[in-house]
Amino acid sequence: MNSRLHYSGRVAFVTGAASGIGRVAALAFAREGASVVCADVSDQGNQETARMIEEEGGRALAIQCDVTRTEDIKAALDKAVEVFGRLDFAFNNAGIEPRKAAPTADYDEEEWNRIIDINLRGVFLCMKHEIPLILKHGEGGAIVNTSSGAGIIGIKGSPAYTAAKHGVIGLTKAAALDYAAQNIRINAICPGYIATPMMDRFTGGTAEGRAKVIAEEPAGRMGTPEEIAAAAVWLCSDAAAFMVGHAMVIDGGQTIQ
Ligand code: NAI
Repeated sequence: MNSRLHYSGRVAFVTGAASGIGRVAALAFAREGASVVCADVSDQGNQETARMIEEEGGRALAIQCDVTRTEDIKAALDKAVEVFGRLDFAFNNAGIEPRKAAPTADYDEEEWNRIIDINLRGVFLCMKHEIPLILKHGEGGAIVNTSSGAGIIGIKGSPAYTAAKHGVIGLTKAAALDYAAQNIRINAICPGYIATPMMDRFTGGTAEGRAKVIAEEPAGRMGTPEEIAAAAVWLCSDAAAFMVGHAMVIDGGQTIQ
């Protein structure tokens, strides 16, 4: 079976495209022939990703977009359809890590709201406005939402991130049921520790910090953004045509211990 998207003329919307997993995924969707809309709150990194795609001969559009703002999401999607004509795929991947760990009773309420707002409500808002556009052309499509190993297991000292990422999986399953009959497949991915700027912040960018994280990985290393991007692209391809509401874990074995 051919796992390539090979859908020239198809359009992918990628959030968090300015950095890490989102940037690499935007490039991967473009290499499969999709036109890619790079959406991120960080305009500079986002423009850079679009430029990288264009340098490889792909088609890209960078649009500044905060996934917690309905008007930003609608404007970005409207622009995507205006420029590329339609929407087929979405990779709802924008997310933030907690600023610091604290047990639940001591957890800062503002930090809780910030993490739930971006990591969970942002995914809902994106799907809310993406789905009608995918339905519009009647040919179906696919959405992939970024959860985490923290969507599978509890993370001590990280109630908000854990709740948000568990929530992404629940939301993915509910939405998948809502639209399976209309041929929009909605799945989630759950990365383990992946070497990205987020992970650099998490480990403090030190050899000791990285070693601590790697010690939790049975595979003995961090994953690469390419390994996560490949899964997102595959979930959008015809090879995954019967994958509906699945939470795909790509974590070097971390959560099966
Ligand atoms: P990153 O920090 O390198 O990239 C995240 C991107 O999201 C950034 O470009 C940032 O500007 C953007 N972003 C943040 N808030 C936003 C908002 N309100 N609106 C639009 N864009 C916003 O992080 P990374 O590692 O690439 O993470 C991507 C996703 O993968 C996140 O959802 C993260 O929670 C998840 N993840 C990452 C893991 C890792 O080990 N790196 C592990 C498991 C999940």
